[in-house]
Amino acid sequence: MITGASSGIGLETARALAAQGARLVMVVRSRPRGEAAIANIRQAVPDVLADLVLADLYSMAEVREAGAEIRRICDRVDVLVNNAGLIHDHRQLTVDGFERTFALNHLAAFLIAYELRDLLAAAAPSRIVTVSSMGHRFARFEWDDLATMERWKGETAVYGASKLCNIWFARESARRLRDKRVTSNALHPGAVGSNFGASGSLLYKLGTRLAKPFLLTPEQGAGTSIYLASSPEVEGVTGQYFVKNKPAEPSRRARDGDEARKLWQLSERLCGVEWP
Ligand SMILES: NC(=O)c1ccc[n+]([C@@H]2O[C@H](COP(=O)([O-])OP(=O)(O)OC[C@H]3O[C@@H](n4cnc5c(N)ncnc54)[C@H](OP(=O)(O)O)[C@@H]3O)[C@@H](O)[C@H]2O)c1
Repeated sequence: MITGASSGIGLETARALAAQGARLVMVVRSRPRGEAAIANIRQAVPDVLADLVLADLYSMAEVREAGAEIRRICDRVDVLVNNAGLIHDHRQLTVDGFERTFALNHLAAFLIAYELRDLLAAAAPSRIVTVSSMGHRFARFEWDDLATMERWKGETAVYGASKLCNIWFARESARRLRDKRVTSNALHPGAVGSNFGASGSLLYKLGTRLAKPFLLTPEQGAGTSIYLASSPEVEGVTGQYFVKNKPAEPSRRARDGDEARKLWQLSERLCGVEWP
């Protein structure tokens, strides 16, 4: 199951897992883009089995509906790839009143994993893979402001905060799901010439466009996601941060277990769920 499978790293991850024989559930926000993605995958994998689940992951109600829909069509989830994510050039709140970068990049990943917890346990040993970024090193926020970013510190700091949350989520979910034999890891995909940056400031838009010839292709950028989702080498490996298929050391803050627990409790409260 892959979020944001309609373009970039998510589409290439979906294509590679389909080629390995996986049945796909692709969570996308646009039916035409989702159907185009399946047609695109079908060129390489003609007999691909793929379901589209439509959800705008800014909305926690839509995340929960996506979870319910997946529970209707699947009795197990072997791998959940939390891939959908954007950078935003200005502050805007979602229908739930959360800052949208935090809502999409972190809360939606937390809540979809919560919604699928029984299906993941049913498929154990199973895996959660969350696409973070080396940008987590630029995170700047105060805890009382994380969900709304009223004290907006710029797109890089806000995006970085959401990607730091991805690493804390992987670390804390790994700890909590260990006895269920569900592993959880985060990764940095590299600097990838996808649609990333299109929702950022002019600097990001121009920067990513000009740098494109020097960036990884989405196919290359999907490498670590595919590795963590499917390689037997990482069977049982959990709570780690990977770069180029290798465990790497994230920032000191990302390794802080107390802050990871604090984020878990905040996420439970904001989503209105209890996930012991
Ligand atoms: N590209 C890089 O250099 C880079 C570096 C580090 C980390 N990352 C991370 O890699 C992940 C994938 O990014 P990418 O580079 O492949 O960028 P991308 O091409 O822009 O893909 C982003 C995906 O997320 C989906 N998405 C965005 N908002 C959504 C929403 N509200 N609801 C549902 N889906 C939504 C997009 O759907 P649409 O097709 O509908 O827009 C698209 O499928 C992100 O988490 C990003 O933070 C990327």
